[in-house]
Amino acid sequence: MAPRRSHPLPRENSLSQENSLCLPNFVAKSLSFYPKLSIVAIAIFLFTLFLLAHNVHHLHAPPQEQLTFSPTSVLYHSPETFRSEYERMEKELKVFVYPDGDPDTYFHTPRKLIGRYASEGYFFKNLAESRFFTRDPHRAHLFFIPISCHKMRGKGLTYEQMANKVQEYVESLMFKYPYWNRTLGADHFFVTCHDIGVNATKGVPYLVKNSIRVVCSSYYDNEYIPHKDVALPQVQMPFFHPAGGNDVKNRTTLAFWAGLSDSIVKDELAALWENDAQLDIQNNRVDRRATGHVGYMKKLYKSKFCLCPHGPVGSSRIASSIHYGCVPVIMSNYYDLPFNDILDWRTFSVILKETDVYQLKGIVGAISEKHFMMLNQNLVKVQRHFVWNTPPVRLDAFHMVMYELWLRRHAIRY
Ligand SMILES: *[C@@H]1O[C@H](CO)[C@@H](O)[C@H](O)[C@H]1NC(C)=O
Ligand SMILES: *[C@@H]1O[C@H](CO)[C@@H](O)[C@H](O)[C@H]1NC(C)=O
Ligand SMILES: *[C@@H]1O[C@H](CO)[C@@H](O)[C@H](O)[C@H]1NC(C)=O
Repeated sequence: MAPRRSHPLPRENSLSQENSLCLPNFVAKSLSFYPKLSIVAIAIFLFTLFLLAHNVHHLHAPPQEQLTFSPTSVLYHSPETFRSEYERMEKELKVFVYPDGDPDTYFHTPRKLIGRYASEGYFFKNLAESRFFTRDPHRAHLFFIPISCHKMRGKGLTYEQMANKVQEYVESLMFKYPYWNRTLGADHFFVTCHDIGVNATKGVPYLVKNSIRVVCSSYYDNEYIPHKDVALPQVQMPFFHPAGGNDVKNRTTLAFWAGLSDSIVKDELAALWENDAQLDIQNNRVDRRATGHVGYMKKLYKSKFCLCPHGPVGSSRIASSIHYGCVPVIMSNYYDLPFNDILDWRTFSVILKETDVYQLKGIVGAISEKHFMMLNQNLVKVQRHFVWNTPPVRLDAFHMVMYELWLRRHAIRY
């Protein structure tokens, strides 16, 4: 802290003193010597100020509109906290992106913006086009390690090779910069949507233990640590059809699931309910790239509930259900649902245990029409949180992930 001045400031002539608050010296001087010219000078000066302010506003000011949701909305655990913290995040959050690594290999540019792992690509791209991005580490709350597991996978690297690459890269950052060592990686994060990406971080124990892992598959079996890590929503992009919702009359199938079984709960689902007349359960490969895609999407428009049973790998099923207005039924003993510390999932989905598969029809059938309509209407309101855009849009999937990171930012700025 600067010591308090014990003597008054030296006196200046009263005119320049008056003007020193808002006018530079030359203007003040011209004012005293050339009264007429001075008016022109002031006009030019003010006009310049106006232009500057206008430009600065366009370049840097966050949008000033209030967030458009009711403070009493049931969708959020704490709507008022979310609104005010979100607005603070928009103004303050800065993320340093390490510039190292050849973008033509595994760094900075992820593989693609389409398909099941698109969330990874969108995050990288959105961060670079957002106001959160900074090349100034002194302003940063968090440090982003820009290595794309999806791209490594695309280049044919095995899981061991990926783990080595990640280790080499993080160690190079550790030696070159002082930032990692200050917190042993606690203010660093990493983003991966491919299930193999979680394993790829295991070569650096501190990456698992200390750093924030933003991952699509967020089961406990992947060493996911809920209070530290962030569940990245897995979203199959692009959506080929418009969002559904507020269309309950068209939803004539009680519940729908189609896919290849790769878990016990899916085996049971198929074995118990495949031939049921009210439930539409199909245990076969859904080829979303060919014509099967259209048929699959139609089912999502026509069903009230879409079953999302647990599997060993991440799935875009939940996000697709939300987009098409089909209430997701989560059937998993543990799944850290994206944004579940912000959103109250019970207001727009149904959450079951895996053993509920035996009573599935009874449970889903017992949900009243009124309750279903409420879930369906709420689903429409959360759709914007599960969609990626480029450039990113307020409250979309990117901003929700950034908000989760904001909540996990390091308390101390070094
Ligand atoms: C960070 O710590 C590691 C291991 O202790 C050390 O080898 C490295 O030189 C340190 N980095 C910096 C920039 O001091
Ligand atoms: C991740 O590693 C575990 C062993 O640590 C292995 O069983 C599993 O198959 C790996 N997952 C992937 C997707 O490679
Ligand atoms: C219901 O389905 C019909 C026929 O497929 C379609 O034309 C209509 O737009 C749908 N209604 C709503 C509200 O989506």
